[in-house]
Amino acid sequence: MAKVAIIGFGTVGSGVFEILNNKDFTQKTGERLDVGYILDIRDFPGHEAERYMTKDFNDILNDPKVQVVAEMMGGLHPAYEFTKELLERGKSVVTSNKELVATYGPELLQLAAEHQANYLFEASVGGGIPVLRPMMSCLLANDILRIAGILNGTTNYILSEMIHHGKDFEQALKDAQEKGYAERNPAADVEGHDACRKIAILASIAWGKFVDYNNIPTEGICDITLDDVQYAEKLDSVIKLIGYASINKAGKIYARVSPMLVSRQSPLAGVDDVYNAIVITGDALGKSMFYGRGAGKLPTASAVVADMIDCVKHLKAPKRCTVWKRCGDDMMLPCEEKETAMFVRTASSKEAVLAVFPEAQIVDGVKAGEIGFVTPVLPEGALDARLERLEGIAARLRVLEIE
Ligand code: HSE
Repeated sequence: MAKVAIIGFGTVGSGVFEILNNKDFTQKTGERLDVGYILDIRDFPGHEAERYMTKDFNDILNDPKVQVVAEMMGGLHPAYEFTKELLERGKSVVTSNKELVATYGPELLQLAAEHQANYLFEASVGGGIPVLRPMMSCLLANDILRIAGILNGTTNYILSEMIHHGKDFEQALKDAQEKGYAERNPAADVEGHDACRKIAILASIAWGKFVDYNNIPTEGICDITLDDVQYAEKLDSVIKLIGYASINKAGKIYARVSPMLVSRQSPLAGVDDVYNAIVITGDALGKSMFYGRGAGKLPTASAVVADMIDCVKHLKAPKRCTVWKRCGDDMMLPCEEKETAMFVRTASSKEAVLAVFPEAQIVDGVKAGEIGFVTPVLPEGALDARLERLEGIAARLRVLEIE
């Protein structure tokens, strides 16, 4: 019997309890997972979890029988301090807290390694979608070349409503809030910060070096209009918020979060509503796509409980799946060197555009007084320099390359 604890009884924490309370994993794991404590500052009178509730973290910390803890609090503090103390006592910790992993991942993974414990966080990226563990085991034979993902369900829902139902951003956001997808303060989602933490974690796992999210340029979807959506349609594409990371031959890592034009030929183009999907390109396998529910109570709890089971199965032989080194910022490729094609809307004439980009693919007839065009693939710095020669640029969106 393995005694486990849950810290934080919010949406995901209560989902973890629900699964653990309703299922017996003995056949799958050879062990029973018994909830010993649930830590929350709130009371839950009458709830079936009530008998496990405590307000004192020390109950969990000082109980030697508790070997695995699910940190479901979110936020940095006190989640960091709690996780640190638990790992120092040799207790394994699992989490869905992408902010914590993306901020203190190197220290917490190091602590886990030093104390023969595990720190696992499958649920921090893609909710219930298995992606981190496949990267760390099934894809080990590959050099990962590129990652491109729809990593945020709320923004994908908003964009899907704009694309398929002609709602503008404000209407679609209101809908997302009414459906309970978007937070009342939706900034972390719509400004791209949530996706930024997730691509930072994916890139750190892919290349074994800590990719600091502060070094990842991040744009959200607040400025996307129905005109942009229509231009994309004319280019047989859709607009998606993409977390993107790649590595070049010199080992420099590039990462970015931005709305991108995605061709309908890409498997990511058909990923709609609150679903997430991550396409990983490996040198041996080529592309593989991981798809499913990226958020929500039971989908996220599904990944958390799987991590708890994994910890229980590796109590005496910690997996030490990864350790991230903090490296200098010079491991990142400067954005101006990254090659990309760009979709641009401009008030300049067709002739003026073709004088700057003779190979441009022009799209007109969407909005009076402007045209759109797609540039050839060029380093971003060179693109910027050429774009300065045009007038009235209303929008610019990177184009996701079809691999
Ligand atoms: N707010 C996130 C999303 C869920 O909409 O995808 C958890 O990461």
